[in-house]
Amino acid sequence: MDFTNKNVVITGGTTGIGLATAKAFIAAGANVWITGRKAENLQKAAAQINSPKLFSVVSDTSKTEGISVLEKAVAGGGQKLDVLFLNAGIGMFEPMEQVTEENFDAQFNTNVKGHFFTLQKLLPYLADGAAVLFTSSTAATAANAGSLVYSATKGALNKIAQIAANELAGRKIRVNIVSPGPIATPGLDTVVPADAQVYLAGATALQRLGDPDEVAKTVLFLASDAASFITGTEIVVDGGYLNYALK
Ligand SMILES: NC(=O)c1ccc[n+]([C@@H]2O[C@H](COP(=O)([O-])OP(=O)(O)OC[C@H]3O[C@@H](n4cnc5c(N)ncnc54)[C@H](OP(=O)(O)O)[C@@H]3O)[C@@H](O)[C@H]2O)c1
Repeated sequence: MDFTNKNVVITGGTTGIGLATAKAFIAAGANVWITGRKAENLQKAAAQINSPKLFSVVSDTSKTEGISVLEKAVAGGGQKLDVLFLNAGIGMFEPMEQVTEENFDAQFNTNVKGHFFTLQKLLPYLADGAAVLFTSSTAATAANAGSLVYSATKGALNKIAQIAANELAGRKIRVNIVSPGPIATPGLDTVVPADAQVYLAGATALQRLGDPDEVAKTVLFLASDAASFITGTEIVVDGGYLNYALK
């Protein structure tokens, strides 16, 4: 796919799915801005990608000040955005009795509030005909015990994406959702112990974890002209996890 000189912003682009997607867009010729909370992680990502077409912005998406930093960086660039990939996310898995207000707020602020206000603040900088992608999760559809708050954030995100697709259609901006199943990322390693990862792999029809590159390919497809009649919908990239779990 060709994204030569297209301008792409990826929130949460330092590791995992965001980093894989940044690499794929750079390989396809795009100029890519990645965000994350930590300068050190952004530097590591930049060293891996090693391209003059990659730019990084320290921006905590869970805070309005962080979103303003990204908005200023985009405004300062003076170019319209062709792709906005809202991908930053955190998950905390625990039974409902153990959910604290702090954990609840952290997940909703990052996974829901942050994405909504990033989209709202960057709307003036989106080119007409741009593509907006959200990273949701199979957790939005599944109802696994212990994932109550995380799943609720992703369910809320799906609804934001669906309605944004309708509100932005007049500008020919397409808005879609990519919902990964279990994908081998640093984020998964942080929240899912090794034995539970083996269980998750066995809960997919393809009997393995996904690779972040496999999610990236779907993001590039949805961002491309090949998906010109696709908006307001979700593509699940889960090795058959949802279907297999319900068999
Ligand atoms: N891996 C899976 O199995 C899986 C499955 C379904 C959905 N997802 C979703 O996929 C997305 C990416 O996850 P991943 O698995 O690739 O995890 P990851 O490796 O932990 O990557 C998460 C990214 O988000 C960034 N981030 C986290 N909080 C942020 C904040 N407040 N502001 C800005 N950036 C922030 C992180 O950067 P810093 O740490 O540098 O801030 C990092 O770049 C998430 O939305 C996650 O919910 C993952």
